Amino acid sequence: MTDLLIDTTDRVMTITLNRVDKKNSFTTAMYADMADALADAQAEDNIRVVVIQGHETVFSAGNDIADFLKAPPTAMDAPVFRFLRAISNFPKPVVAAVCGPAVGIGTTLLFHCDLVYAGDNAAFSMPFVNLGVCPEAASSLLAPQRMGYGRAAEALLLGDPFMAEAALEMGLVSRIVPPAEANALAQRQAQRLAAKPFSSVLETKRLMKHSHASEVDQRLIEEAKVFGRMLGEPAAREAFGAFMEKRQPNFTNL
Ligand code: COA
Repeated sequence: MTDLLIDTTDRVMTITLNRVDKKNSFTTAMYADMADALADAQAEDNIRVVVIQGHETVFSAGNDIADFLKAPPTAMDAPVFRFLRAISNFPKPVVAAVCGPAVGIGTTLLFHCDLVYAGDNAAFSMPFVNLGVCPEAASSLLAPQRMGYGRAAEALLLGDPFMAEAALEMGLVSRIVPPAEANALAQRQAQRLAAKPFSSVLETKRLMKHSHASEVDQRLIEEAKVFGRMLGEPAAREAFGAFMEKRQPNFTNL
């Protein structure tokens, strides 16, 4: 069973996270495959829209922590950063279906999607501080912009989760549906987009995004440098070690 299923039908590429036993946490190989899939989707004229979806019980638990410890991403050519830059600069529409937990990059990648459909069980969280690291995917810029500073501070500084209703209210999510319907709705909306005059779709996305594009890219790079450094520091080592040992972290004196 592969961890990522990639299917192209009727001008829509669908990427399904398929590692449910590990809560769809992302391995380095999955990031590399996602970056490659997006590059293909960008280059192929017959692909107009990309859908990213998980399972109705879980979208993603974020980085695979064991894998992360084995190969920490320290350079910008690391697969995680290749994927993040690919999705943040992606010119065609990206539609996501999110159910259950969406942790870390499971939430931050959504800032780069155009339409996000959430199951009513969706739970978003960005617990970077609790893990001794810092935000990624330009979320230190995009979360305050999208959520307002106060709610972004609760989500990013305290690591507090927020539910589908809150995500809808702040505009991160376009619509909430029963979990069993989220992937199908994302497909329908993707098909609608694929049937529209495509140059209009592309220009509209570009016009909505281009004034922030270089700022987003710079922040993504800045965060990546800090994140890479912090991964080797004591707080992250304690947090990741505690996760692996299934115990609470001890941040006393850190
Ligand atoms: N990396 C590696 N493995 C992970 C993982 C992750 N981020 N998240 C979950 N898993 C694994 C668990 O270790 C467990 O493996 P096991 O069956 O071999 O013991 C399996 O997935 C099921 O996870 P579990 O925690 O039992 O599921 P749950 O339904 O109780 O909780 C989550 C789901 C997502 C809330 C919880 O797994 C979680 O908080 N994961 C960590 C999230 C995180 O901190 N991500 C890093 C962001 S940078």
